Amino acid sequence: MMNKIPDITLNDGLTLPVVGLGTYALNGNAGANAVQNAIHAGYRLIDSAYNYENEGTVGEAVRRSSVPREELRITSKLPGRYQNYDKAVTTIQESLYRASLDYYDLYLIHWPNPRQDQYVEAWQALIDAKKWGLVRSIGVCNFLPEHIERLEKETGVKPSVNQIELHPFFNQEQQRKWHQANNIVTESWSPLARANNLLQNDTIQQIAQRHNKSISQIILRWHFQLGAISIPKSASPVRQLENISIFDFSLDETEMSLISGLTHPDGRINNQDPAVYEEF
Ligand SMILES: NC(=O)c1ccc[n+]([C@@H]2O[C@H](COP(=O)([O-])OP(=O)(O)OC[C@H]3O[C@@H](n4cnc5c(N)ncnc54)[C@H](OP(=O)(O)O)[C@@H]3O)[C@@H](O)[C@H]2O)c1
Repeated sequence: MMNKIPDITLNDGLTLPVVGLGTYALNGNAGANAVQNAIHAGYRLIDSAYNYENEGTVGEAVRRSSVPREELRITSKLPGRYQNYDKAVTTIQESLYRASLDYYDLYLIHWPNPRQDQYVEAWQALIDAKKWGLVRSIGVCNFLPEHIERLEKETGVKPSVNQIELHPFFNQEQQRKWHQANNIVTESWSPLARANNLLQNDTIQQIAQRHNKSISQIILRWHFQLGAISIPKSASPVRQLENISIFDFSLDETEMSLISGLTHPDGRINNQDPAVYEEF
């Protein structure tokens, strides 16, 4: 394959490529074209969610593509309003029907919603869905260490992945170290900070010029060297290709710490602190 993306092995043995495609706002025929193009360019990991209302779009792109299903890694996520055990089971089935898939490779709880206090029973539903063969690997998003510790204590099963907001303005150093110590893979959402002013940052611009790469490529390389899977979203074939063309150079330690040093405590894009933020 032309653009081979390296793999990471999860704690349950499933492999995932280190860069995947984000699909927020990729819907309908234009969305299916964008996802199909990404697969054609070399993407094998596709991130979707029940709440993005594009599981059908992703399923359509999978059917249109010539890549065998078993080479793809398709993700979806359980919404907060369906964390009750029975609703969670039904929702996973509905997610599959929407995509017309027999299984998801990765299924995640979208937010812990700690005030609702149902994420443990939602987790039990994911554990059972894995036993039933509906999903191959199960994980979480936006979980703090205390939430994950509770999952493990009450069910004996640890997530394979925690998908969290991570970009140079919010580098999640402590959470990443905790994941590493607990053998959980970090997956970065909004890895480009949704193309906000991060993409005009002078520090990264200078590093980009040195390597003759774009700012986005430098940022995505930084995620890779941190050991995180990133899932940049792009509808554009040119930018999709740009975002996976990051395996022919490397950042040195100084460059890595210059980029990591851009973090600040209020660096989250929309102030979505999982301790209090809720999404349904
Ligand atoms: N679990 C969660 O709670 C959660 C939350 C948020 C997001 N996510 C997931 O993470 C994915 C990625 O996050 P995101 O979509 O919020 O933000 P992102 O991937 O950081 O940024 C996407 C934006 O960057 C632009 N872009 C992409 N590549 C570019 C490049 N090379 N140069 C310049 N601009 C570029 C895109 O525009 P074009 O499309 O025009 O290229 C789009 O506007 C989502 O799509 C979703 O799958 C998960």
